[in-house]
Amino acid sequence: MAGHPSLAMKIHSALFEVSAPNLSLCPSPTLPEFAFIGRSNVGKSSLINMLAGKHDLARVSDLPGKTKLINFFTMNGTWRLVDLPGYGYAHVAKSDRADFNEAVADYIEGRENLLCTFVLIDARLEPQPIDIEFLHWIVGTGVKFLLVFTKTDKLSANQASTNMAAFKRAVFPELDPPPAVIASSAKNKLGRPEILGYIAQQLPPPIKRKDKGEAMPMLKWLKP
Ligand code: GTP
Ligand code: MG
Repeated sequence: MAGHPSLAMKIHSALFEVSAPNLSLCPSPTLPEFAFIGRSNVGKSSLINMLAGKHDLARVSDLPGKTKLINFFTMNGTWRLVDLPGYGYAHVAKSDRADFNEAVADYIEGRENLLCTFVLIDARLEPQPIDIEFLHWIVGTGVKFLLVFTKTDKLSANQASTNMAAFKRAVFPELDPPPAVIASSAKNKLGRPEILGYIAQQLPPPIKRKDKGEAMPMLKWLKP
């Protein structure tokens, strides 16, 4: 389990900033970012709303393929949640469909202020080939990621932990250390303190202004 519930931060503002179709049109990399990726319909936008404590911040739909652009949400004025278009949705125009979207791959590999990617997996399902393919790709990039299993409200706690353990065994038999895993539900807010606690741990400490002792907004923030 990543993070610790006691470190969970309060969200006092969550604002939509901008949508971008590709890496070069993303907003300037001035704030640390945490991105959410996974198969279409796995619950990325719902999880972002749950973390933000707003039901209508990111657009949610019963139909897969809802999120088509890279969407940036500014949290507490100092960091961003990034909602990515899902992969594995077969009913989009061929030209829009790399095995997983090229803009997503460029963003994850090339975004200098991306601190961590949360890879979402439907807790109800056996490992899906497209998830395995994506996870092998992201391991190869060397970027930091962790797994979030979604929709756990749809199955028993026992079943969810059995499925999560089986998934880790099947997909990462040799990865050492194996990726951190968090169980979540956008419906009953399971996983919220763990995810926000993990994010809080990754954020750089706020810079204090000498004169007034106020926290300064981070003007330029880059990966170490
Ligand atoms: P795309 O934008 O199409 O890639 O999908 P997405 O991954 O953003 O999924 P989205 O958040 O739009 O949710 C898809 C569907 O799953 C919606 O009908 C949600 O209400 C539902 N859903 C998402 N998370 C949960 C959850 O934790 N529990 C339950 N029961 N339903 C969920
Ligand atoms: Mg979405």
